Amino acid sequence: MCTMSTPHLSTPPAGGIDPARVHSLLAHERASYIARNPRSQAQAVHTARHLMFGVPLHWMNDWATPFALHMAHAQGAHLTDLDGHVLADFCLGDTGAMFGHAPPVVMQALAAQASRGCTAMLANEDAAAVGDALAERFGLPQWQFAMTATDANRFVLRWLRAATGRAVLLVFNGCYHGTVDDVFVDLIHGQPHQRDSLLGQVHDLTRTTRVVEFNDLAALEAALAPCDVACVLAEPVMTNIGMVLPDPGFWEAAQALIRRHGTLLVLDETHTISSGPGGYARAHGLQPDAVVVGKPLGGGMPCAAYGFSAGLAARAEAAKRAAPPGHSGIGTTLTANLLAMAAMRATLTHLMVPNVYAPMHTLAARLADGLRSTVARHGLPWCVSQVGARTEFQFCPTPPRNGSEAEAAMNPALEHALHLYLLNRGVLITPFHNMMLVCPDTSEADVTRLLQAFDGALTALCAADS
Ligand SMILES: Cc1ncc(COP(=O)(O)O)c(C=O)c1O
Repeated sequence: MCTMSTPHLSTPPAGGIDPARVHSLLAHERASYIARNPRSQAQAVHTARHLMFGVPLHWMNDWATPFALHMAHAQGAHLTDLDGHVLADFCLGDTGAMFGHAPPVVMQALAAQASRGCTAMLANEDAAAVGDALAERFGLPQWQFAMTATDANRFVLRWLRAATGRAVLLVFNGCYHGTVDDVFVDLIHGQPHQRDSLLGQVHDLTRTTRVVEFNDLAALEAALAPCDVACVLAEPVMTNIGMVLPDPGFWEAAQALIRRHGTLLVLDETHTISSGPGGYARAHGLQPDAVVVGKPLGGGMPCAAYGFSAGLAARAEAAKRAAPPGHSGIGTTLTANLLAMAAMRATLTHLMVPNVYAPMHTLAARLADGLRSTVARHGLPWCVSQVGARTEFQFCPTPPRNGSEAEAAMNPALEHALHLYLLNRGVLITPFHNMMLVCPDTSEADVTRLLQAFDGALTALCAADS
C-alpha cells in the first residue's frame, strides 16, 4: 500500500487535460465497469454484509472501481477476476507479487513445509540459509525478521533509538514507509505538520520527527546539525508519491553528511528491491547502516527482514543486554514462522537472483520507452521514470525532484479515469499514482496490451469533445 494524497493547490489540476474530458471519460468507464462485472458486484454486496467498508481492508476501496473487483485466482503475471476476465497484472499486489503470482518454487517449498509444521517459535535449518543469502545479497552481516515491511521499519527505528540514545527520526517529505506513525509528518509551506489523515494518534510526532525535502542537501545538513538524529529513514528512490529520483551525487553527499553527524542511514528497499537482488543500494554502491526489505521477499507470503552492519548490530545487541529483562517492543509471535522462512529461502535461492531480474529490467525499459513515445505522440506534458522493474508516469513535463513537486503533479480524477480505462481493457495497474511493475512472467504481449490500452486512453482524453 502506498499513500493517496491531495495536492495543497488552488491551481488547475496537473496533467494538461481539460477536467471536463476527464470526468466524461470517468463516467463512461464507470458504466462500462458496472456492465462488465456483475459477479463482482453481487459478491461485493455479500462481502459488505459483515466487513466494514465492504472490503477486508479499508484501503481496498482506493481502487478506481465503482465497487470492489473480486478475484478468482492469479498465476504468474495474470489475474482472473470473478467475471472471468484475465487481466495483465502490472500492480502485482503493489510489489508483494513482484516475482509473479504463486511462483511454483515458493509454492512447492510452502507445501513441503506445511505438513511439517507452520509455526513453533523455533529456528530450523532454513534460518541459517536465509541469513547467509541475505548477507550475501545485501552485504550486511546481521539480520532479523518481521511479518511486514511496516513492522520491520518500526523495529529498526526502535533498535536504532536504543543503540544511539537519540530520539529524533529524519525523513523526506512525502515519504511512505508503511503505517509507521513516526513518518507521517509532512512539510507544508516549509513547516512540519502531522498528517491530518492519521487516525487515533494522540502524540505530537513533530517533536521527534524532522522532515526535509529529498535532494535538498542544505536542508539535510541543517536538520542533522543538532546531532540528535538517530537515523535517516529513506527509500533510495522515493516511490510512494509518484517516483522521485535522486539527483546525480545526492546520495554520495548525503551519506557523508549523515555519517559526519553521527547519524545512521536506514534504506527501505521494500519497493526499490526491483533494482536488483541486492536492492538499489547494492546496484548503486550505497553503504547504509541498515536495510529493510519486505513485500516480495517471501514470494507473496507475508515476510520482511532487516539487516544491520556489524557495528550497528554490536550496538543494538549491547542495548538489549543492558536493558532490564522484559518486553523489548520488538517482535511478534508468528514472525519468522516456519512457512515464512521456507518461503524466503525459496525466493532468495531461485527468484532474487540476477538472471531472473535481467529480463524484467529489459521489459520494464521497453515499457518505459513505449509510454514515453505514446505521451510524446499525444503532445502531453507528462514524464516517465523507471527504477529497475518499476515504471511510473507522472503528470508533469520533467521528473519531480522532491515530494512537494511530485504531489503537485498528482491528479486523482485523471488517475482514476486512466486506471479504470485500462482495467476495462484487461490491464491492472496500482490504484495509487501510476506505477507499473514487471514480473518474471510478464510477456512482451502483456506490455503491448498495456501500451495499446494507454494509447487508447490518451486518444479518448485528448479527443473527448472534439
Ligand atoms: C517503501 C515502503 N516501505 C514499507 C512499506 C510497508 O509495507 P507493508 O504494507 O507490507 O508493511 C511500503 C508499502 O507500500 C513501502 O512502499
